[in-house]
Amino acid sequence: MAVSVERRVAEAADLVTVALDELLPRADGPESRLTEAMRYAALGPGKRLRPYFVLETGRMFELEERPLLRAACALECVHAYSLIHDDLPAMDDDDLRHGRPTVHKAYDEATAILAGDALQAAAFEILAHPDSHPDAGVRGEMVMRLASASGARGMCGGQMIDLLGVRDDLGAVARMQRMKTGALIACAFELPLVMAHSGEAERHALMAFAQDLGLAYQIIDDLLDAEGDPDLMGKRAGKDAAMGKANYVTLLGAGAARERLNILVEQTKSHLDPFGPQADFLRASVDFVLQRRN
Ligand code: IPE
Ligand code: IPE
Ligand code: MG
Ligand code: MG
Ligand code: MG
Repeated sequence: MAVSVERRVAEAADLVTVALDELLPRADGPESRLTEAMRYAALGPGKRLRPYFVLETGRMFELEERPLLRAACALECVHAYSLIHDDLPAMDDDDLRHGRPTVHKAYDEATAILAGDALQAAAFEILAHPDSHPDAGVRGEMVMRLASASGARGMCGGQMIDLLGVRDDLGAVARMQRMKTGALIACAFELPLVMAHSGEAERHALMAFAQDLGLAYQIIDDLLDAEGDPDLMGKRAGKDAAMGKANYVTLLGAGAARERLNILVEQTKSHLDPFGPQADFLRASVDFVLQRRN
């Protein structure tokens, strides 16, 4: 591959940050406190991996860039909202993200709650707009997919289980991880699949890939929490064990969690076999994600 995955991720991040800057509301009145907090969270130095996957998958299906970028921005808004709320004192009680104070520290709790709420609303406003796709049926389908990935059967449901500290067995933990993190990651593949009117076989293979990738992504996050460098991560480490969180690392230990992760990564890549060289960037992206340090 002439161009590296790092470069493609960085280019996607730039495109999405510029598009988000245009799409997110600005205000002159006193509500500007809210729009500033939304911008602080969504335009900050996140990796933009979900938007990258939207763009990369869309390119694989030769989709137009403008609607894809809107879908990528909508998904990133939900992700940014999920992190604002995840950091709140009532949830993980974190004061640092991306090397900066979390939104409730930089502003206050009420503003952080509202900024999360408003980012979620912005996501659906962006996705439902005719510029996101000329066909209202496709837009409706995308809205539905993002809603179910975000809600009680997806991210929010997983966050609930995470907070309850459910530690029945590894299967229950995997289910929680797939919901809280996997669902939004899978949505990065679902949105372009909907736009491309893809066939069942393609959809099936890519969703299997996305679901395994989502689980792997959270295991890496949990390993970083246990062993990562907080300066590189821009967030505090060692919090999962301290808070009694149940995950692969707190349940199995870092070594065994890494072994499971390596098996999972091979399985993840194997789901791309039907796509041939067309999916080379997605394959390389798995290794990129695996090596992440932040
Ligand atoms: C953090 O996600 C929370 C998880 C779901 C693991 P990312 O690590 O993708 O967050 P940013 O956007 O790069 O900060
Ligand atoms: C967050 O998982 C998952 C979300 C849905 C936001 P974590 O709580 O482990 O994410 P970090 O470590 O705070 O980024
Ligand atoms: Mg959390
Ligand atoms: Mg957290
Ligand atoms: Mg974490």
